[in-house]
Amino acid sequence: PLPARYTAELPVPAVLRPVRSDADADYYEITARRATVRLLPGHDTEVWGYQGTFPGPTVESRSGRRTVVTHRSELPRPTAVHLHGGHTPQDSDGHPLDLVGGSAAHHDMPGMAGTDGMAGAEGATVLAQRAYTYPMAQRAATLWYHDHTMGFTGPQVYRGLAGFHLVRDEEEAALGLPHGPRELPLMIADRSFAADGSLAYPELPGGAPGVRDAYMNGVLGDVMLVNGAPWPLARVDRAWYRLRLLNAANARRLRLALDPQPAGGGALVQIGSDGGLLERPLRHDGVDLAPAERCDVLVDFSRYPAGTRVRLLNRLGDGPAGEVMAFEVGSAAADDGFRLPDRLATVERLDPAKAVATRTFVFRKGEQHWTVNGEEYRPGRSIAAPRLGQVEVWRFVTDFHHPVHLHLDPFQVLGRTSGRPGRNDTGWKDTVDVLPAQGVEVAVRFTDYAGRFLLHCHNLEHEDMAMMAEFTTTE
Ligand code: C2O
Ligand code: CU
Repeated sequence: PLPARYTAELPVPAVLRPVRSDADADYYEITARRATVRLLPGHDTEVWGYQGTFPGPTVESRSGRRTVVTHRSELPRPTAVHLHGGHTPQDSDGHPLDLVGGSAAHHDMPGMAGTDGMAGAEGATVLAQRAYTYPMAQRAATLWYHDHTMGFTGPQVYRGLAGFHLVRDEEEAALGLPHGPRELPLMIADRSFAADGSLAYPELPGGAPGVRDAYMNGVLGDVMLVNGAPWPLARVDRAWYRLRLLNAANARRLRLALDPQPAGGGALVQIGSDGGLLERPLRHDGVDLAPAERCDVLVDFSRYPAGTRVRLLNRLGDGPAGEVMAFEVGSAAADDGFRLPDRLATVERLDPAKAVATRTFVFRKGEQHWTVNGEEYRPGRSIAAPRLGQVEVWRFVTDFHHPVHLHLDPFQVLGRTSGRPGRNDTGWKDTVDVLPAQGVEVAVRFTDYAGRFLLHCHNLEHEDMAMMAEFTTTE
């Protein structure tokens, strides 16, 4: 039986403290390990967690200040760590074969780190620890870090290897947005549990990557977790809150809406997207989030009468997957003095008229796997070589739902084959939901770091089943 809804209190992941700081950098250490935690009432669940928690601890950075995170792993399988949305040089970007393993024993695993059957896995390097250096030359935004291991990202993220990494800057601080207990990062993910409380992922026997036919479209769960708690409840004041929404599901798409809607609607006031603040607030009744997308929203709970229970629904989900969490609005009128500004930030527009190249990437099912431009992922094979600093137009074309993600730099959605960009396409994006039999056109400009980077589908089962490619940025 599924756990009761709205009894668990919403957990908020702890903010990680640096182990040391110097004039221009903060240093962190994170160990990925197995831990037994309580996700469901009355059950123990083994997770694979950063610092043994799910979600992992939240890392906070200031824009422009270097952040160095040393990762270690005590997991049975090596891991690669990617900072999703990070403007990161190749060496620290968490390439799927740049692995972190625990003891030497892991190096002796058959097929080098369990990458059997994946072409090119022989290029893997496994280090006992890895220092990932993030220059943080980027705007304030909601980033997240997660496992990115060749062929095993799906099962490893499913077991818990995901956490928030928030970047803050002056432009954002000047807005006086709700903060402290009124700023809630919300990591939304669906999971299935076996009767004994263990996380149930349909892994293939023999340690082969990917999943079987029935899961070809991705692994869905019937329990909705927010920050690791099933359908939690958050008690809120009658005040403005900032909700940093993240879809951390392997494959489930979300359409989030508050119920009831306050009189007049427009309860979800979007202030930011994957790549940080929008130019102006955008009012929504509902927000679509494909896997890996983020949406930064403000909600004014003083629009609700005291005592209202406001549910966060997922209008794309059936039954239990149709509900996510609830907010209980307190009685105290809490004038927080916050006034929503008309203007949030200066957002540069990439001009597609200046594009030096147009490239098309087709995301489609292959015979056994999923493909980009007809090919399965092969590490070291580059399929595009954009020049740093130049605008290009990239077109993503699909057969099925594929949330397409680019590493290194964000992009701006120019249009969809169905027409103009959708309301959820506003601002700087690093992941865009490409709908079945559709195309999306984006303007992108890679900057600063020459090297090889990834583009891939962020449905993690598709990613593990080869829907990934590399591009090489050049001076
Ligand atoms: Cu969130 Cu390449 O991944
Ligand atoms: Cu996909």
